[in-house]
Amino acid sequence: MSRTVLSLPGDGIGPEVMAQVRRVLDRIGGFQIEEGLVGGASYDAHGTPLTDDTMAAALKADAVLLGAVGGPKWDTLPFEVKPERGLLRLRKDMELFANLRPALVFDALAQASTLKTDLVRGLDLMIVRELTGGVYFGEPRGIEDIGGGERRGVNTQVYTTSEIVRVARVAFDLARKRDSRVCSVEKANVMESGLLWREEVQKLRDAEYTDVALSHMYADNCAMQLVRAPKQFDVIVTDNLFGDLLSDCAAMLTGSLGMLPSASLGAADANGRRKALYEPVHGSAPDIAGQDKANPMACILSASMMLRYSFDMAAEADLVDRACQDVLNAGIRTGDIVEPGMTPVGTAAMGDAVLAA
Ligand code: NAI
Ligand code: MG
Repeated sequence: MSRTVLSLPGDGIGPEVMAQVRRVLDRIGGFQIEEGLVGGASYDAHGTPLTDDTMAAALKADAVLLGAVGGPKWDTLPFEVKPERGLLRLRKDMELFANLRPALVFDALAQASTLKTDLVRGLDLMIVRELTGGVYFGEPRGIEDIGGGERRGVNTQVYTTSEIVRVARVAFDLARKRDSRVCSVEKANVMESGLLWREEVQKLRDAEYTDVALSHMYADNCAMQLVRAPKQFDVIVTDNLFGDLLSDCAAMLTGSLGMLPSASLGAADANGRRKALYEPVHGSAPDIAGQDKANPMACILSASMMLRYSFDMAAEADLVDRACQDVLNAGIRTGDIVEPGMTPVGTAAMGDAVLAA
């Protein structure tokens, strides 16, 4: 099985955190890692946030790892060449329709969590958000004058059966590698697309995934349950808009942006391998860029997801996750997660510690 990885460090702290990921992957060994430019770094070199060559390399690679894009230097560029456009093109051309956002609370950080410790200790849930459909893209859309000084803003929530089934399949497959439970979230009580969603997810489960327990929940209740008792969930699958909100909500159960990984998956090929992009949730953090202050864990944990979901290397992924846990338990922390009485370490030192562990 080939293991070609395209690494796109990007801007700001992207290259700093990606350098630590490289060390981890080199230690595991067996990867062919290519490097490319994305975002402002690509604009500076080529006048575009993503070249056709880099796009082609991404489509050819077995997985793509991305740091972060953007920063004040490129904020005034025209829309078509803004750094974010590079990332959007990657997601679009790779047809990444499923966004995986884990919310995982490390024991060592549960104490510092914004919520009560017992509520989040041991939390380990995964939100699967549909990424290419729904109200963000549905037609008709627009703002129109309707006379008498009135205007009307229109968006349309649309889902087809195939769009629902393919993302639900990702969720069921994931659940099989976890605790075999999926909670499907919509508002079938007030939305036709939600009703179709509920019916199709249930049909798929009954036809192909009877070993996975499926429940259904309205999105408003899900928001409440995430805050009240988040440990009841294993895998949550939901649409683009609800997923946007619920994944940010779940993220805040865990603490820092510097700890949050993500994955975006596309369709499976004949060998069952999916196009995949792995990236930390955080941005380029211009306020701390170039100062050896960034927490590399979100990016290292994104690479761990790559091991698990693109390369079936669960044992190695477990090793990386446990190493991160040990480092946190030992009180080795970057500035974003440091607690009273601890001395913060830098990005490279955090990488050293993870490698040692
Ligand atoms: P941000 O995530 O870059 O930073 C928000 C705050 O969190 C900052 O105070 C930063 O120092 C801190 N932070 C973020 N990651 C950290 C880490 N690994 N370790 C320690 N502290 C960390 O979000 P912000 O400030 O809204 O955006 C900055 C730039 O990043 C903008 O140009 C934005 O467009 C871009 N961005 C890019 C994303 C991507 O590449 N996927 C996602 C979000 C923002
Ligand atoms: Mg959001």
